[in-house]
Amino acid sequence: EAGKLWGGRFADGPSAALEKLSASVHFDDRLAPYDIAGSRAHARVLHAAGLLTTDELRRMTAGLDALEADVAAGTFTMTIADEDVHTALERGLLERIGSELGGKLRAGRSRNDQIATLFRMYLRDHARTIGGLVADLQDALVGLAEAHPDTAMPGRTHLQHAQPVLFAHHVLAHAQALSRDAERLRQWDERTAVSPYGSGALAGSSLGLDPEAVARDLGFERGSAGNSIDGTAARDFAAEFAFITAMIGVNLSRIAEEVILWNTKEFSFVTLHDAFSTGSSIMPQKKNPDIAELARGKSGRLIGNLTGLMATLKALPLAYNRDLQEDKEPLFDSCDQLEVLLPAFTGMMATLTVHRERMEELAPAGFSLATDIAEWLVRQGVPFRVAHEVAGACVKVCEAEGIELDQLTDEQFAAISPHLTPEVRGVLNVPGSLASRSGRGGTAPSAVAVQLAEVKADLEVQ
Ligand code: ARG
Repeated sequence: EAGKLWGGRFADGPSAALEKLSASVHFDDRLAPYDIAGSRAHARVLHAAGLLTTDELRRMTAGLDALEADVAAGTFTMTIADEDVHTALERGLLERIGSELGGKLRAGRSRNDQIATLFRMYLRDHARTIGGLVADLQDALVGLAEAHPDTAMPGRTHLQHAQPVLFAHHVLAHAQALSRDAERLRQWDERTAVSPYGSGALAGSSLGLDPEAVARDLGFERGSAGNSIDGTAARDFAAEFAFITAMIGVNLSRIAEEVILWNTKEFSFVTLHDAFSTGSSIMPQKKNPDIAELARGKSGRLIGNLTGLMATLKALPLAYNRDLQEDKEPLFDSCDQLEVLLPAFTGMMATLTVHRERMEELAPAGFSLATDIAEWLVRQGVPFRVAHEVAGACVKVCEAEGIELDQLTDEQFAAISPHLTPEVRGVLNVPGSLASRSGRGGTAPSAVAVQLAEVKADLEVQ
């Protein structure tokens, strides 16, 4: 078996069934640029250790450059017989510089430390891409909040009318969650900036190579792995990345669910732009929120990628085990899914038409100002326990009469409680209710303006 990296002790080549099972080249080929960067860095430490002459290093590097160009141009083909990307690229190098020199590159490294390093490099790049796409979505949400600085809507708990809130307040709540996701990605990246290269198969290298130099070369700011067994066996960085991407998916699904509701005839809070909604093949009138539904659906898939990887890792003995080859497809998928979903989702949010009159008409419905009555009474010196009872009695009368709180007459108020003087009407309107919640984090326009500034400041550092 000429191309294999491990033929020496075998009399027979692998069966076709094994070859098919074992192959990862059809998905790990996307790591090729990172593998070549690793090889270049490795060649330099071999040279520094006196294991390659300067001329050999020059020819090796030129060969890697040529291979890289062919990979980028799509003229280097990897096949299932190559098993994995590392084997394929070794073949490519040998084809270009001959087996005598090409065969020296493998000294002091293993596919175990290679894959652990390349996977980190790949995910770090995609963490940046995904972080940028999350920032674009936050920008769209900030835009919505800025376009509707004083639009009220029904705030909900248990999906029931609870208290009126500003639409901007609600939208910025989603933006805050995304700010934390973006921060998680940055903190993850900082933690993942450790290079396993030089760990070898598991025990390190006897060849006097400098893993710190490789780490510097490959952009790992925190240097090389402090323990070669951990370097090759650890995948918590992958699990954590899977969690962060799943959390982004979950956060998108929560926005999505609301957009789907808001876009129904019954809510009529928003209209989706034609370019970001779909039609039906049979019902000519339909305009469907497919982007939001796909976000909701894909969040399940992202969670599956996380739980699948956790199940693979559970109880795996140290150090490398081939089970670990199962780590890449779910993580690649999580990146791919978010990278197609986020731009569409951002487009949908950036082009939403918001129906202010409809939201504001419903903001005081469902007796959502009852808390304002109770808190007004507290400000008049009534204990909250009593105030809560009195406000509840107002709701009871309204329900019986089929009216809203602000339609109670002065006489009805007085009959419910002597504390309810006509001045209570001052809080029985949405703008008054909103403006009264002016403490930090509250729904008053002044407080929401602070939240807007904070999300924008977060975006500055992203
Ligand atoms: N393709 C493997 C993976 O993705 C890396 C190669 C290690 N293989 C081995 N037999 N030691 O984990």
